[in-house]
Amino acid sequence: MPPDSARPPHDNPACRDILVQAVESAIQAPSSHNTQPWLFRIGEDQVELYADRRRSLPVVDPEGRELTISCGAALFNLCLSIRHQGRAIAVEVLADRNLDRLALVRIGAARSAAPEEESLSGAISRRRTNRLPFEQRPIPNDVISALERAAQAEGAMLHAVTGLSKNALADLIAEGDRIQAADTSFRRELAAWVHPNRAKNKDGMPAGGFGAGDMASLVFPLILRTFDWGKGQAARDRQLAAGSPALAVLTTGEDNPAAWLKAGQALERVLLTAVSHGLSASFLNQPVESPSLRVRLADLLGVGEFPQLILRMGYGRDVSPTPRRDLADVLI
Ligand SMILES: Cc1cc2nc3c(=O)[nH]c(=O)nc-3n(C[C@H](O)[C@H](O)[C@H](O)COP(=O)(O)O)c2cc1C
Repeated sequence: MPPDSARPPHDNPACRDILVQAVESAIQAPSSHNTQPWLFRIGEDQVELYADRRRSLPVVDPEGRELTISCGAALFNLCLSIRHQGRAIAVEVLADRNLDRLALVRIGAARSAAPEEESLSGAISRRRTNRLPFEQRPIPNDVISALERAAQAEGAMLHAVTGLSKNALADLIAEGDRIQAADTSFRRELAAWVHPNRAKNKDGMPAGGFGAGDMASLVFPLILRTFDWGKGQAARDRQLAAGSPALAVLTTGEDNPAAWLKAGQALERVLLTAVSHGLSASFLNQPVESPSLRVRLADLLGVGEFPQLILRMGYGRDVSPTPRRDLADVLI
């Protein structure tokens, strides 16, 4: 029996199993409001990634920027899983030419996974968005550097925000909360993706992720939809942001679908690197989601790049996983 590398990949009956397992990993990726806006088409020795725009968020994400970032995070897991399974990959990014067919990943020859790929791959199922307050314990500088390198490896930049700028960013986040919560269409859209804790939905976010107990979670979507909760949320998020051991902004040099896909790959690499160092993370994207605040955020950073996401990181308690749709739901 010749080794894998000596056979054309498409002759290998294991290719399909590898790709199916890779898609299983891809769908563990984070996505805005847990919309899981992705579809996959598995071929003999390749898999295509599509944006599923039926799952878009027209109010908070009218251009599909966060939707494409979410797909980029799934793409990172997809590629990592194939490498972890001992195969090389060739990736063709199509996001710059095609709105929906975002990338094509081909399986290549046999190769051994690098130790870093092993460690990141092991973090896929342990990664969760953790919105709880973190311990005050600072994050060592070498870990911050590893997170910055993770973003750079995927063609993006991660800027740790410290000192006075951290308070200014926390203020922008609070301002973003007030703007969003005052908008009834924003509240309606968000509430449609938040479910009681015991609901059987395979997408969207259990209210428990926002701190609601089982009873409170029954009325949580109604409260989200009905009231302008901006003031209270702004105060909580301001404290959360200013009090987090690390607050960081992920940026890209351009602001188009190819850059958003890159941002998503960088996001997932940063998050998995964080998990492999025992860190938790969550998002405070409000200023990036408001066009006027996004300009002010770019000015605050002063690096001439486009802010894509805001992350807070630290050492936190374990939180429950959010649900995912079945494999059959995401295969074309
Ligand atoms: C592009 C993007 C934007 C997100 N924005 C926010 C956000 O502003 N606030 C928040 O709490 N979570 C945000 N999230 C986290 C998602 O809600 C989370 O990934 C999803 O609910 C699935 O949960 P999990 O990450 O624990 O698997 C974002 C995720 C992505 C990929």
